[in-house]
Amino acid sequence: MNVAIDVGYRHFDGALLYSNEDQVGKAIQEKIADGTLRREDIYYCGKLWSTYHPPEMVRRAIEKSLKLLKFDYIDLYIIEMPLAFKPGDVIYPKDEDGKFLYHPSDLCATWEALEVCKDAGLVKSIGVSNFNRRQLEQILNKPGLKYKPAVNQVECHPYFIQLKLKEFCDSHGIVIVGYSPLGTCRDSTWVNTKIPALLDDPVLNAVAAKYKKTSAQVALRYQVQRNIVVIPKSFTPERIKQNFEIFDFSLTDEEMKMISALNRNERYVELLMWSDHPEYPFNDEY
Ligand code: A2P
Repeated sequence: MNVAIDVGYRHFDGALLYSNEDQVGKAIQEKIADGTLRREDIYYCGKLWSTYHPPEMVRRAIEKSLKLLKFDYIDLYIIEMPLAFKPGDVIYPKDEDGKFLYHPSDLCATWEALEVCKDAGLVKSIGVSNFNRRQLEQILNKPGLKYKPAVNQVECHPYFIQLKLKEFCDSHGIVIVGYSPLGTCRDSTWVNTKIPALLDDPVLNAVAAKYKKTSAQVALRYQVQRNIVVIPKSFTPERIKQNFEIFDFSLTDEEMKMISALNRNERYVELLMWSDHPEYPFNDEY
């Protein structure tokens, strides 16, 4: 966090699920205390985990995060997945046979609870993540909708460019935040490693060589130029720095097209362990 703040990052993508909101909050408070930052300089995204979907639990979940972060408000708060699990503080509720315990989803009811929390000032903006078009439409078409989702955070990178979902979101003023913008890691317990590693791609590397950049920087620059917000992750200070150095070059239209042509329409993060959930989002075309 300290390295990232010093380099210039101000947008931080977090979640109660990541079990580090206390550390994230502490790092930010320290930077505020030493005069580097004001709270309003930071844009923090938090997430509603799947065991807190019932409307009466939403405020409590936000308050949990606020307490850990020691924040008065969260900038952006999103429904982490459209999949509701058995409500409670057990993050991955399972039966004795190890089968996940699901809960009927009522995305509109959860959304209304988020609207109330926004009106109460606990969160400034609200959005969703891993929603497909049908699930977005459920919210958008809800009678009495007060706020549209500000963002839909989904996997997005040159091998999965989300053309149709992007077009749909653009037409509704919903910003796409692209997770795994570098093609995530190669941990086969949750990553589809049948897809080659994005950063080894010859086209990305050829374009990178032209600008004396890396394939990671080209992948990030590509998204920024198509108005997709990127949230690259790294534990390595040198890479954290590198991933920020993408504002001193631009890709030509031709290069943007070449990179778009790399699209394979396959995800690294399929969430297959929840594919039997009635709201599993990735069976639809988009
Ligand atoms: P590490 O944390 O060891 O630096 P994504 O953001 O798509 O989920 O990708 C995260 C993965 O990409 C992490 O494994 C991270 O490794 C690696 N990574 C982050 N930045 C770079 C970079 N500039 N070059 C190569 N790999 C990177």
